[in-house]
Amino acid sequence: MSKAIYPGSFDPVTYGHIDIIRRAAKIFDELTVSVLNNKVKTPLFSVDERVKMLQEVCKDIPNVKIDSFSGLLADYASECGTDVIIRGLRAITDFEYELQMAQTNHKIAEHVDTVFLTTSLEYAYLSSTTVKEVASFGKDVTQFVPPCVAEKIYEKYR
Ligand code: PNS
Repeated sequence: MSKAIYPGSFDPVTYGHIDIIRRAAKIFDELTVSVLNNKVKTPLFSVDERVKMLQEVCKDIPNVKIDSFSGLLADYASECGTDVIIRGLRAITDFEYELQMAQTNHKIAEHVDTVFLTTSLEYAYLSSTTVKEVASFGKDVTQFVPPCVAEKIYEKYR
């Protein structure tokens, strides 16, 4: 059975992430979408909230599981018995950081490789950061995130 992990902050999940999830879930038998529990960053949503939003928006994709992890991604992949990490590439500006991360992960755990999916053109500009900024000024964000996620963002800025 082919397995992959799609890790990220998902603070919050956007249509860009969902596009990658749906496409990766067609390629692999089992896809685990995993939220990083990062003690350094101050996210808008707790890990638990981010996991719940991902569960809601992925509930119609049967081979997708939602999880969270802390520590090194390469160690987490080894613990899961998974050799493949999925990452989305939006633009050339993502490339340097992603290349560094992929190579570091491969150095830490030689069995781990990163597979990049290029973000669909319609979502190439989209990021969780910009969605939060737009919402913080009271604007509608339903073209960027599913309605259930938009509601949760509005609650934070109310
Ligand atoms: O959605 P993001 O914030 O771009 O995701 C980044 C993520 C979670 C994939 C990355 O920060 C990560 O894997 N962090 C775990 C720590 C780690 O393994 N660092 C070494 C690789 S450079």
